[in-house]
Amino acid sequence: MNNLVNLQRYQIRINRLLADKLAQLPVNDPKLLEAMQYGLLIGGKRMRPYLTYITGDMLELDSNDMDGIAAALECIHAYSLLHDDLPAMDNDDLRRGKPTCHRAFDEATAILAGDSLQTLAFDILAHHNFSTGIENKRITLIKHLVNASGYQGMCGGQALDLSATNQSISLAQLERLHSLKTGALLKASVLMAAECSDKITEDEKQKLEQYAQSVGLAYQVRDDIIDITSSDEELGKPAGSDITANKSTYPALLGLQGAKEKTENLYQQALQALSSLSYNTQNLSNFASFIVNRTS
Ligand code: IPE
Ligand code: IPE
Ligand code: MG
Ligand code: MG
Ligand code: MG
Repeated sequence: MNNLVNLQRYQIRINRLLADKLAQLPVNDPKLLEAMQYGLLIGGKRMRPYLTYITGDMLELDSNDMDGIAAALECIHAYSLLHDDLPAMDNDDLRRGKPTCHRAFDEATAILAGDSLQTLAFDILAHHNFSTGIENKRITLIKHLVNASGYQGMCGGQALDLSATNQSISLAQLERLHSLKTGALLKASVLMAAECSDKITEDEKQKLEQYAQSVGLAYQVRDDIIDITSSDEELGKPAGSDITANKSTYPALLGLQGAKEKTENLYQQALQALSSLSYNTQNLSNFASFIVNRTS
């Protein structure tokens, strides 16, 4: 059990939405569509959508507006996983308790399913039925997602991850790598929601950004930890994959205890950033606690 308010409700909400999105697509290539469904709809904790919805709730925004942002983020995330597992990247065979997409289908199909999910994310943002007040934010939201997912965000981080494999890098380099490959999308999950608020001040946005920066980095540090401490069954992906591949991770650089201390520090930083906000930040602080303690 966890204390994440409305987690199941929002998981069901986003799952329905994503399933509907794919069901609406014309069936040009049935295998490609099936691979997209496989990569997007089966399993996944839906943490990025959840973060968007709870930030939206805190700011009293309309969940229908948050739907477009949450769906786009989850499409990018799913695509990043399809590509991350490929032989050219992490070469993993298990994801969300099932064979990875390129194992269940083939490499070319997994690459194209990832590509298609990436463009679907922008399709969703471009066409989502935002309420009138949000309509003028559409381009800003698209720019946010571009930055978080592309060269300046997730893809850039993944490239740094690959070049840091079999290498020793400094703590500052590792922090940058993790903040980009995983932190950027989680940060966008908070900031894209915040972008939709007309009442939030620049100062409050900055505080939220600090929170999201800490939580985003902590998310990957914890991912590195549970790669060592959890089982294949718990993770739904191969435990020990980072050690086998000789990846640059927090436990590799600081030891398991040092990595755990790092998540604790990031958790405290996240709470500190929330402390001066005059909104009800309980759900965001629960989220921070959940992600630094999760075992899967
Ligand atoms: C795994 O992400 C990869 C990282 C970016 C750390 P999640 O742990 O959110 O994976 P799912 O979506 O729940 O499967
Ligand atoms: C994933 O990092 C980062 C992504 C952008 C997908 P990992 O390679 O550690 O993620 P898992 O452990 O395979 O889920
Ligand atoms: Mg990887
Ligand atoms: Mg991986
Ligand atoms: Mg990992």
